Amino acid sequence: MDDRPIGFFDSGLGGLTAVRALRRMLPDENIIYFGDTARMPYGAREVSQLRVMARQDLDFVAERGVKCILAACGTVSSTAPDVLRGYAVRTFDVLSSTVREAAKHPESPIGVIATAACINSGAFQKGLAALCPDTEVVAVACPAFVPLIESGHFDPDDAALREAVAEYLAPIKAAGAGSLILGCTHYGLIEEAIRRFMGRRIHTVEASACAARELADWLRAGDLCGGSAEERFCTSGSAEDFARLGEIFLGRQIRGEVEHVPAMEVV
Ligand code: DGL
Repeated sequence: MDDRPIGFFDSGLGGLTAVRALRRMLPDENIIYFGDTARMPYGAREVSQLRVMARQDLDFVAERGVKCILAACGTVSSTAPDVLRGYAVRTFDVLSSTVREAAKHPESPIGVIATAACINSGAFQKGLAALCPDTEVVAVACPAFVPLIESGHFDPDDAALREAVAEYLAPIKAAGAGSLILGCTHYGLIEEAIRRFMGRRIHTVEASACAARELADWLRAGDLCGGSAEERFCTSGSAEDFARLGEIFLGRQIRGEVEHVPAMEVV
């Protein structure tokens, strides 16, 4: 038993979908979450910057005494995997578990949607090619999704969201994909809008859920579960906005104050 908190970080609110998924399995875990909203969207940044930011985000949560860290961000997971793997605290990403889950349904083609930096890294494509080399992959960068979601456009009836969904998903729909990887942790929140466009039968593989399962399995296997459901949320952006929108990502009210922390410099 280890009641130190689990550390989570993301560029903003998206990683809360991983917290939510973990809570369903292990409701008592203590949690520290950092949403780096001031530097969002990560997906529009250079890889060299993202690698520096990945280390800063890891340090931010590690300094608060965590037992493990979930990099709840597809962009960081795909552009800084070695930074995560080589870190002093056991760290999980949202990429490898998602690829493994998707490879269980290898029927061609598989669609992948994620941020521009994530798709440009080719990480999902390479991961799938290694596990199911005969499967065609249609990967599409969706740069407008994160800014839309962070500004509150996640209702499936929202006109701007529907327009963006139709634009980005059209090639995947046209290719006849039966499975779709939601490779950015923000996208769980717009799954309904995506399903409406793609059709109900699309099989979605959601990165946050896959990573949360992997993390929960690891805690259970190592007898490391434990806590009293304490949580602490920090953001480099507006604490008020984080608390208001975060409730929707978490599926319930945020307990306690959201802490505003100064934005870090990309050195
Ligand atoms: N949730 C982050 C991800 O999974 C969003 C990155 C961004 O801010 O563009 O990639």
